[in-house]
Amino acid sequence: MNFWDSIFQDGAVWSYEPADSAIFAADYFLKSGICNVLIPGIGYGRNSTPFIDKGIGVTGIEISLRAIETAKNNDLKTPIHHGSVLNMPFDNIKYDGIYCYAVLHLFNRNERKLFLTSCYNQLSENGIMIFVVVSVKSNMYGQGKLLSKNRYQLNNGLKIFFYDEKAIINEFTNFEVLEYSEINEPIKHMKDEPPLQCYKIVARKKAGM
Ligand SMILES: C[S@@+](CC[C@H](N)C(=O)[O-])C[C@H]1O[C@@H](n2cnc3c(N)ncnc32)[C@H](O)[C@@H]1O
Repeated sequence: MNFWDSIFQDGAVWSYEPADSAIFAADYFLKSGICNVLIPGIGYGRNSTPFIDKGIGVTGIEISLRAIETAKNNDLKTPIHHGSVLNMPFDNIKYDGIYCYAVLHLFNRNERKLFLTSCYNQLSENGIMIFVVVSVKSNMYGQGKLLSKNRYQLNNGLKIFFYDEKAIINEFTNFEVLEYSEINEPIKHMKDEPPLQCYKIVARKKAGM
């Protein structure tokens, strides 16, 4: 069983409450007139509800079949492509928006570049994406084995690249970064758990790259 299937063995492990950034993104997209959104690494879909509730169409991509099963068992009607975001595209649709929570930082440098290029290619002209990535200020930073600058393998085996401002500027060069900010994402399913220090990045596709 792969790492993510084992995480989702017990179903909706993070409950069904969406992250604050998903609520922000749904409002942002609605105000921007965006009506179709791709969510790479959608998990079992907890972060899709703010978009669906606002009438925004959602398509997901997810590597864990167990997570997709959980989504379907919870009656989530959203189409979810099964596979790795590193093998995008899974359809030939251009999306006006992409929302991606806690996925980009799972990859190494080349994979992050590939993933961001694939997102660029699936965005329509002037499409907007909102990414949430973990920050060097997170409590997890520095735990486990150092793999490369700011990238660690945690004791549970997960490899994480911790973002700082410089990495954001360097990696989102094909996009116009409209804003980025440090956010504290509450861990809503765990009582008394400190929030996760992240960056929220709002970026627009630059035309004709
Ligand atoms: C930290 S979780 C976040 C899940 C989801 N974004 C949420 O907030 O509920 C990372 C998610 O990315 C998925 N994932 C990890 N690697 C992936 C890959 N290469 N392609 C597609 N999904 C992947 C995992 O299965 C998991 O659902």
